[in-house]
Amino acid sequence: MTCSLLIRLALFAVTLLGLSSSALADPPIVIRFSHVVKADTPKGKAARKFADLAKERTNGRVIVQVYDNSSLYKDKDEMEAVQLGSVEMLAPSLAKFGQIGLHDFEVFDLPYIFPNRESLQAVTQGPIGAQLLKQLEERGIKGLAYWDNGFKVFSANAPIRLPYDLKGKRMRVQPSKVIDAQMSALGAEALPLGYSDAYRALKTGLADGTENPPSNLYSERMHEVQPYISVTNHGYLGYAVIVNKRFWESLPRDIRDILEKCLQEATKENNDESERLNEQALINIRSASASNVIYPTPEELQEWRKALEPVYEKMQGRINKDLINNIRRLSQTLNSNSSNSILSKPKKN
Ligand code: LMR
Repeated sequence: MTCSLLIRLALFAVTLLGLSSSALADPPIVIRFSHVVKADTPKGKAARKFADLAKERTNGRVIVQVYDNSSLYKDKDEMEAVQLGSVEMLAPSLAKFGQIGLHDFEVFDLPYIFPNRESLQAVTQGPIGAQLLKQLEERGIKGLAYWDNGFKVFSANAPIRLPYDLKGKRMRVQPSKVIDAQMSALGAEALPLGYSDAYRALKTGLADGTENPPSNLYSERMHEVQPYISVTNHGYLGYAVIVNKRFWESLPRDIRDILEKCLQEATKENNDESERLNEQALINIRSASASNVIYPTPEELQEWRKALEPVYEKMQGRINKDLINNIRRLSQTLNSNSSNSILSKPKKN
């Protein structure tokens, strides 16, 4: 055998070896993470942070593909998709778990249930939050974390300062029996629509108004078609980060551990930052000047609270009574520092 033939054979063997080792290398684990809001919202940012951390900390063994802005599933379909395993990960708003029969999650929709962020985080980051996430397992879902967005404001096509200003208005809402009851307590009509349809409904006049934290209103440009916004802070909107349970349990233990740590980091950043992002959204809305932003006085806020109190009684058969009472007790204890209360006059920036 000539020397050049030997060299060629050796090169051929090296190429084969390279090919077979790359063919044998495990393909990355792909986690499709679908959500309905824009990338520059608290949830959108946290999802991308989690994706970046997961890639870095697993050295590319896990790739989280984030589909924001309802680009993979709309909120109407995403819950079924995660149960079927057509998508691995979601972060639906807590209001949306009522649709799969988990009514206790609607406790988060009760008006003024949390007097401030401290009390809400004591619930989501404590034993009550953990017990609620456990309920998801019977639906084939594993709950991994809670992400904050913020307190909701009302918007409409006419000024809103006091509860009767919403009388007769048709309001786009998330599908939630508590939010329906809230609207009827105000004499308004609830129009449950998917998030991706909200802007069009407001623009065409199908809906007169809506409610959401400022970061959602601003990122969807709803303020451009809603001339009045009232900073009532009348309810909370936050999320549970969930995965298909079977998929999660099929992951290698070391990968799950790393992903849990990445999620803790993304959660902390989200929960520390979401208030600032909502304040910034209100500043942006005010400087865009398309909408008049009304800040009700503390006395006016008390009127909102009073008008919405009957919702509690109406929902007692639906949401566990002890759960409501436990949250109220915890909130009262933590509300001794009233300077943070959402019922004090909201700060103008
Ligand atoms: C809504 O439907 O208004 C919100 O749940 C959207 C979201 O996910 O923040």
